[in-house]
Amino acid sequence: MKRLLPFWFVLFPLLLLAQEHGRHYTAPSDPLVQKNLAEWQDLKFGLLMHWGTYSQWGIVESWSLCPEDEGWCERRGPYSTDWYAYKKAYENLQTSFNPTRFNPEKWAAAAQNAGMRYVVFTTKHHDGFCMFDTHQTDYKITDTLCPFSSNPRADVTKAIFEAFREQKFKVGAYFSKPDWHSPDFWWPYFPPKDRNINYDLNRYPERYQHFRDFTYNQLEELCTNYGRLDLLWLDGAWVRPDSTVNRTESWQRGIPDGQDLEMHRIAAMAREKQPGIMIVDRWIPGPYENYLTPEQGVPDKPLGVPWETCMTMGNSWSYVPKENYKSPRRLIHTLCDVVSKGGNLLLNIAPGPDGAWHPEAYQRLEAIGKWMDVNSEAIYGTHSPRSRITRLGNMVYTEKGENLYAIYLAEEGEEQLPDQVCLRFLCPGKDRKITLLGCDTPLNWRCVDGDTVIWLPAGHCGELAGAYAWVFKIGS
Ligand code: GLC
Repeated sequence: MKRLLPFWFVLFPLLLLAQEHGRHYTAPSDPLVQKNLAEWQDLKFGLLMHWGTYSQWGIVESWSLCPEDEGWCERRGPYSTDWYAYKKAYENLQTSFNPTRFNPEKWAAAAQNAGMRYVVFTTKHHDGFCMFDTHQTDYKITDTLCPFSSNPRADVTKAIFEAFREQKFKVGAYFSKPDWHSPDFWWPYFPPKDRNINYDLNRYPERYQHFRDFTYNQLEELCTNYGRLDLLWLDGAWVRPDSTVNRTESWQRGIPDGQDLEMHRIAAMAREKQPGIMIVDRWIPGPYENYLTPEQGVPDKPLGVPWETCMTMGNSWSYVPKENYKSPRRLIHTLCDVVSKGGNLLLNIAPGPDGAWHPEAYQRLEAIGKWMDVNSEAIYGTHSPRSRITRLGNMVYTEKGENLYAIYLAEEGEEQLPDQVCLRFLCPGKDRKITLLGCDTPLNWRCVDGDTVIWLPAGHCGELAGAYAWVFKIGS
């Protein structure tokens, strides 16, 4: 016989979990950062792009260089059996990178139409290749070794930021703290052993200080020469202060003491050059993690603090020739799910070696855009419902001012709303009106045993209101 667990037995772990989620968050104290963060939270939907020389091989971004026995570090191809030969061939990709179809205005227009409102671009990934015109290294797209350097828009970071700013986007720089090209991170004297520095930091502190200065200088360039920047999205959480290292986590085991970047210096510089800039030092609790960044998944509950899920539109962050893109329905549902829990969705599309996106990526954006044209009222500027009920069955909820939005997530192949829809455990006041976004006529509804039943008359305009998900607005 199945025995029911006592109520507290179920509730207590859930409460702990809820506390855990927001526990490590430190809200920014700078009013300009607070303002920027509040504006960003209202935008809800952004674009992430992972792009580098690795796109030419159609492989994972950077990770194949990392000598760890992990699935995502696996090397393939003719050089794969010899790490040194592989690193050389990988770095040589600089000499053939020539994305002549680069057209950031086309990306920005498609993203804007889809309802995206901010962009984050990989200015430098862990491999250390700079997609901007840094003066700290020649390992960059604008160096003469790279064929694209002769293109007037070789500084692709600049062109991307300008094109998206033109569409009124907030602009963010993804930047990897670790740099597997820098001789002060992986000193060529020793073989690298894992993702961390490969020398004893206590014996060679000047070398590491050099690396800190190099990183500071690169971030200073990004904060100085690239117009208004709203966000620094700093990846590579194994570069972190000792006090935050947890060696029971397998990926943190090898982190040496002192492998940090003195973030207070970087933040002070960044905020002097770019007042109000948000900093996301990912997964490092403290004043430089202005919002949390769960990856490839949506939390079960609202986190109670600012957050963003970053997620791939296909399966990979980087370009692969044959990508398996998620369906428009799944993407729209994910956006609704994230937003109902008070988060933002940062959706990744990877440009190819020629500088173009797959046509399927445009198709997805177009479908999302059509849906947003009708329904974005239930997305932008909303928050998680005060009732704390974000989802019941196929219905997710968002709220804005006096309006509650109930978003009906359609099943696969469900192209029409049923004649009757039920909002469980919800009874709006008698003065409330319920409409379907995209249709003006108020709908008939009634409270039945604590639930709301809505009737949709024959010939209602639900088809017009958008496929994949329908939004009921409960307002005045
Ligand atoms: C993962 C990947 C990394 C990528 C990041 C984006 O951590 O390993 O390469 O940049 O996701 O969120």
